[in-house]
Formats: sequence, C-alpha cells, structure tokens
Amino acid sequence: MYNYEILEQYALKISSRIGFAPKVGIVLGSGMGDIADKINAVYTFAFNDISGFPMTTVEGHAGQFIFGYIEDVPIVCMQGRIHYYEGFSMEDVVLPIRFMAIMGVETLILTNAAGGINKDFDVGDMVLITDHISTFVPNPLINKNVDSLGDRFPDMSCVYDEEIRNTMKDISKENGIDIKEGVYIQFTGPSYETPAEIRMAAALGADVVGMSTACEAIAARHAGMKVCGISHVTNKAAGLANKELSHRDVQDAALKSADKLEKLIWGYCRTLK
Ligand code: HPA
Repeated sequence: MYNYEILEQYALKISSRIGFAPKVGIVLGSGMGDIADKINAVYTFAFNDISGFPMTTVEGHAGQFIFGYIEDVPIVCMQGRIHYYEGFSMEDVVLPIRFMAIMGVETLILTNAAGGINKDFDVGDMVLITDHISTFVPNPLINKNVDSLGDRFPDMSCVYDEEIRNTMKDISKENGIDIKEGVYIQFTGPSYETPAEIRMAAALGADVVGMSTACEAIAARHAGMKVCGISHVTNKAAGLANKELSHRDVQDAALKSADKLEKLIWGYCRTLK
C-alpha cells in the first residue's frame, strides 16, 4: 500500500514552488507527447522524482509532469503515462492521477491512441468516450480505501462528463473536426488483441480498444474529478484490416492527427477563462 502522505507532502511542496493550483489535468497518450511543447510551461519534473513513484518505460512516453498554462488556464500535463503491462500494480498505475487530484485538479482530460472496433471509425478519427468496459483489467481501487480521496464504493454510472462532451462537440464543429462517440474497452496488453478478442469486444458493445484510460478514469472519479476521455483511432482493431499491428504505426498515426487533439484541448481551456 502506497503511503499517500508522501503525495500530500509533495503536492504542498510543488504548490508553494509554482504558486498556483492546476485546474485541468491532461494525460497525453502514445505519440501525442509533442503537444506538451505548446504549453506555457512553468515547472517540469519526472514522475520518479516523487518517492516510490513508478516510471514509464515505454518508447514515445516521456514520463514527466508539466505545470503551466494553456490559454491562461492553470494546468498540469502528464507527458506519458504508466501502463499496467509495464509490471506495476494497478494502484501504482493510477498514482499520478491521484497526485493530480491532490494538487487540486477539477477536470481531467484523458487521451489515448486506440484501435477502432466500430466499423464506422477510420484511422485519424477522434472519439469522445461515452463509457468504458474495464472488466478485463484489475480495478485500481483494490486495496485499503484511501478515505481522504473518496468512498469505498464509488458510483460509476456517469464516468465521462456529459457537459464536457457537449463542449467538445461544439469545439469540434467550430474547427471542422468530425468527432465520434463510443465505448472504450481496456485490455492489459502489451500484446495487441486477437481478431477473436476484438469480435468479443464488439459483441460486448465496445467501439474502441486500448491499454489504458479506463483505470485512470475510475481513480479520477473516485477522487471526485470530472473526466473527459478522447480516443484517437490510430489503427483498425485486429482482424478488421489486412495489416499487422505495430507500435511504430500507432505512434506515426497519432503524430499525424495530434493537431486535432490540440484544437480540442486548447478550445476547451478557452471555455474556462
Ligand atoms: N489495441 C490496443 N491498444 C491500442 C490499439 C489496439 O488496436 N491501438 C492503439 N492502442
């Protein structure tokens, strides 16, 4: 069990150093790290600066927190994230999310690269997550409840905030982005799914598939943050295209449409001014 007093003490230290409380938290997925360069950054530190924090090992994930401003709104951005398949416990995977909650973040924007299961989704599409299926990964709240963060049995009937989704749809319209909506399913990875697993996921009602996000959304809701999830379809899911899946292709595809994600995030921050 992680000692959460460490997070509280570190949060105090960072708050006094930067002199503001971030309102919005942003988690950048695979290949989206460059967006962080556009932030008016004030202070940056690596995840493992915090004692006992996991450090990401994945190529394309920097593994740092950036504190600063987007459109004059105070934010914190996680450039890179921790994945369950790296060998960390699910509790450790969501520690950075809990740290953001302790720092005072009210709204969390989770982005990811995902495989498209819904046949109407194309590579390059942005998908607003309406709900998720996390049944195939351990729940991040398993362990003694952290009462200072939230309840033992938190409600998950509206994980992804409808009002923020509507705002994102408006911003998409203004920017000519054809945004879709769908259910995200999280598997552990690191192997990509088999075509049979994708058929199962489709039968269960999933539209996009990935190896992150749902666990983070659960931890964020537990801690009372509003959540917005955006998947970027970087490939058709296994068996839906005559092509093998590779992390390199996922990263390349993510890079190509990073500008859409940037428009959504910057547009959203503008609405908070
Ligand atoms: N499956 C799982 N995770 C992914 C995929 C996929 O097809 N694409 C990007 N992340």
